[in-house]
Amino acid sequence: AEPIPFEGVHQAGIVTPAQDRLYFVALDMTSEERADLISLLKDWTEAARQMTQGNDVGTFGAVSGSPFAPPEDTGEALGLPPSGLTVTVGFGRSLFVDAKGKPRFGLDGKLPAKLKELPAFSGDQLDPAISDGDLAIQACANDPQVAVHAVRNLVRIAFGRASVRYSQMGFGRTSSTSSAQVTARNMLGFKDGTANIKVEDKKDVQDFVWVPKEDGPDWLVGGSYLVSRKINMRIEIWDREPLEGQENIIGRAKGSGGPLSGGDEFAKIDFKKKNDRGAPVIDMKSHVRLAHPDFNKGAKLLRRGYNFVDGSDGLGQLSAGLFFIAYQRDPEKQFVQVQRSLAGSQNDLLNEYIVHVSSGLFACPPGVGRKGYWGEGLF
Ligand code: HEM
Repeated sequence: AEPIPFEGVHQAGIVTPAQDRLYFVALDMTSEERADLISLLKDWTEAARQMTQGNDVGTFGAVSGSPFAPPEDTGEALGLPPSGLTVTVGFGRSLFVDAKGKPRFGLDGKLPAKLKELPAFSGDQLDPAISDGDLAIQACANDPQVAVHAVRNLVRIAFGRASVRYSQMGFGRTSSTSSAQVTARNMLGFKDGTANIKVEDKKDVQDFVWVPKEDGPDWLVGGSYLVSRKINMRIEIWDREPLEGQENIIGRAKGSGGPLSGGDEFAKIDFKKKNDRGAPVIDMKSHVRLAHPDFNKGAKLLRRGYNFVDGSDGLGQLSAGLFFIAYQRDPEKQFVQVQRSLAGSQNDLLNEYIVHVSSGLFACPPGVGRKGYWGEGLF
C-alpha cells in the first residue's frame, strides 16, 4: 500500500482512514528555552516526514552511519513497509502558560481561547499522572512495530528538550473515519463508529473538524482540537449483562449494529418509536440517544479511538477499555456538550460499566508544506 502523504493543508491522522494500531504519547518540556521548542518541532517534523514515507530517521539512518556513533535511527522498522503510518502532533494548554498563567516560550497572546481546561464531569476518576501534557503525539499505523518505532524515535530526538509524561498503546480501531471502511468493534463487542463523521461527508468535516478562519487564532486555522479520554471498562460485569440489556444500554443491535428502532446498520435512528407498552424503543438513557446530535444542539464529533488491554489488575480482571480520541473545531460545543449529556449516574446507562481515568485536550496545528514545520505559525 502507498504511504499516506505527510504534507498537506491538514495533518494526516485525523480524517485519513483510521489505521489498526495506536501509540499515543504525551510529553512535557524539560527546557524552558524558546529555541529548544522551535528546534524540537523542526526535528520532529523532519523525522516524521521520513518515517511516514517508510524511510529511516536522519541522513544515515539505522545502519549506514559511523560504526563509532549510535545510529540515528533505532532500526526496528528496517525492512517494514510504511504501514499507513501517520504522526499527528498537538499542543496542550500548559505549553502556552504555566500553572500561574504566565506565558512560556514567549508564546504571549498565542494561547487559543478554546484551549481551556476541560471541566470536571460527574463520575470522573482522573489520574493527573496520565492526563494533559505540553505536547501530544498520536502515531497510528497498521503494524504496531511501525507505530512504536515512530514514537520511540521522536522521544529519543526530544531528549534534553522534552520527556515522556505518559503513553498508551491501542489496537482495533473503534472508529471508521471513511465509509470505505467496515465498522470495527469495541471491547463491549459492539460496532463502534457507525454514526461517526466520515471523510466523505465534506460538509460535516468542514463544519465540525477543522478550525476555520473566523474562529482563529490564525496559527491554528486548518488545525483541530484533540480530546483524549482513557476509559476503563468493568468488563467482567458487562459480560454478565444479558444480551437484551447490553443492546438497550447502547441503543443498537449487537450483531448488525442497526438501531433498535429497526433497519440495518446505517438506518436512521427513530427516537419516537414506542413499544407495545408505550415506552420508547430506544431507551431515553441509552448511549446513542444521549450522544446523538439531536439532543446536543446539533454537535457532532470525529471519533478516532482505540481499544486497549493493559494486562490485568491485581484482582485478576482485565485492565481494558477504550482510549477515546475525538477531533473537533470547538471542544466546548462538541466534546464537552456531549460528555455533559453522558456523564453521571442518572444519565448514560453505560456509566455503570465505564470510568474515565485520564483526560487531555490538545490544539493540533494545521499541516505542513514541503519546507514547513509543525506549529511554525506560532513563532
Ligand atoms: C456512539 C460505544 C464513549 C460519543 C457509540 C456507539 C457505541 C459506542 C457502540 C454506537 C455506534 C456508533 O454510532 O458509533 C462507546 C463506548 C464508550 C463510549 C464503549 C466508552 C467506553 C463515548 C464518549 C463520547 C461518545 C466519551 C463523547 C463524549 C458518541 C457519539 C456517538 C456514539 C457522538 C454517535 C451517536 C449517534 O449520533 O448516533 N458509542 N462510546 N462515546 N458515541 Fe460512544
